[in-house]
Amino acid sequence: MTQASDTDVLIIGSGAAGLSLALALADHAKVIILSKANLDSGSTQYAQGGISAVLGNDDSLDSHVKDTLNAGAGLCDLDIVNFTVEQGPERIAWLIEQGMPFTQVSDSEGNINYHLTREGGHSHRRVIHADDATGRAIVSSLSLKVNAHPNIRLLEDHIAIDIITGSNSRCLGAYLLNLNTGKVIVIRSHFVVLATGGAGKAYLYTSNPDVSTGDGIAMAWRAGCRVANMEFIQFHPTCLYHPDAKSFLISEAVRGEGGKLQLANGNSFMERYDPRAELAPRDIVARAIDNEMKCSGYDSVFLDITHKPKSFIVEHFPNIYNRCLALGINMANQAIPVVPAAHYTCGGVMTDRQGRTDLDGLYAIGEVAFTGLHGANRMASNSLLECLVFGHAASIDILEKLKDVPPLSTLPKWDESRVTDSDEEVVVSHNWDELRRFMWDYVGIVRSTKRLQRAKRRVDLLRSEIQEYYSHFCVTNDLLELRNLSLVADLIIRSAQLRHESRGLHYTLDYPEQSSIAQNTILTP
Ligand code: FAD
Ligand code: SIN
Repeated sequence: MTQASDTDVLIIGSGAAGLSLALALADHAKVIILSKANLDSGSTQYAQGGISAVLGNDDSLDSHVKDTLNAGAGLCDLDIVNFTVEQGPERIAWLIEQGMPFTQVSDSEGNINYHLTREGGHSHRRVIHADDATGRAIVSSLSLKVNAHPNIRLLEDHIAIDIITGSNSRCLGAYLLNLNTGKVIVIRSHFVVLATGGAGKAYLYTSNPDVSTGDGIAMAWRAGCRVANMEFIQFHPTCLYHPDAKSFLISEAVRGEGGKLQLANGNSFMERYDPRAELAPRDIVARAIDNEMKCSGYDSVFLDITHKPKSFIVEHFPNIYNRCLALGINMANQAIPVVPAAHYTCGGVMTDRQGRTDLDGLYAIGEVAFTGLHGANRMASNSLLECLVFGHAASIDILEKLKDVPPLSTLPKWDESRVTDSDEEVVVSHNWDELRRFMWDYVGIVRSTKRLQRAKRRVDLLRSEIQEYYSHFCVTNDLLELRNLSLVADLIIRSAQLRHESRGLHYTLDYPEQSSIAQNTILTP
């Protein structure tokens, strides 16, 4: 094991949450940011539609709050929704100060304004964006600042294994694996922040990048923190259906700008499911597509925006247009084949308004956290907003607490004396495939008691195999991710089994009605 490093704040994750927090802290504290791959490996880099905030003259904070509550199907925390929505305009102004190039348009009188698009569940245009590649612009603007800051040290290709806790139930640092050397490192830190993103890789089909394996949720759980509402996995209605396109999203903004969902025969169907049709919240649209695909036996449905001029399509969706074209689909004159895929983890590590978890010194911000904002279904583009708002809130709390912290403790060494190199890597890849497939088949868009029982039996078996493997062999990236993913899958299944109703993203054939009492599902280690 290599020598320990010390820092004031260790941020695990370099997406919108981690980068914005690091910049808010760095003038006053020493910060290490960790990414288990490159800095731009998280979901943030792939975000398309934009960030929701009340910026238009005809919009209001009340309306954003109301839309968020409606999408959340009775489970949002009103205080947290108000807190988040109120801070939206200020957080966007901060991003602009960091150099964020939001798309601008000029009105009929020649005034330049930021363009606001629309997405499902929003009653107004309130999604500010950088073309259709908003996340890429966030990462490049913030990473320029991060790389230039003398108080920030970036460690790429380092995966956090576990949080280190002391006898006084305080977080003291973390064990990391350097993926280039294979060595385990200890970081001692006054505060540790989980900004590790979601867990979409628990499913066979997902819009998420490879790093979204729920590591932060698993680490927090093992450290004794509660998690909540893990059953609410959001399926994005429109991911590109193409054999060569691994997880490419077709932004909801395409529907926001007039795109229509159709069957292979050209018939539209969303009006039969909801008066808001294509702009109904995601849970409704994804379930409608799933049902149409099952009834018709087709492999996909289609998203058609060909009624708009090519110039409009290319101007609004350059990233999507070019990606589709490279795959032989010209969206200016043909409908795009689309399917739903796992997209967003609404539940996560329970935190308060400052991002504090149950463990003293440990914070969780961004998609890894459960703040209460999203309820049973996240409204489009509220996630990047949450990353920025809670990154900011956590920075205020951490800077205040840093004024009076005890000296860093001596930490236990990583013990590898009883493990050897694995000679059976196939176990990891096989179990990984099996997990993602049964989660898709049994814990997907439509669930039932029997399907959840089947999934639970399988995950129990997998977890005991993985645990045995973990205790005998040296850690690798794949093994660590599989260990985390199987734990998170178990938490999703257990939460789904506890919810005896259908609400938001959790739909089960055995309890199709929504209960009159709305309750969070809270699991305690
Ligand atoms: P991420 O951006 O996912 O970053 C996670 C980071 O943690 C990565 O750096 C990763 O390497 C690191 N990490 C993870 N585990 C470990 C570990 N064990 N050790 C070290 N590092 C680790 N939301 C919106 O609001 N608007 C949108 O338009 C939008 N579009 C989206 C499009 C796509 C295709 C996807 C997938 C999501 C989209 N979302 C959107 C959701 C939103 O992008 C994410 O919820 C948000 O970016 C999450 O940011 P984050 O900082 O929490 O985590
Ligand atoms: C999209 O562009 O459709 C994604 C928006 C989101 O997930 O919030």
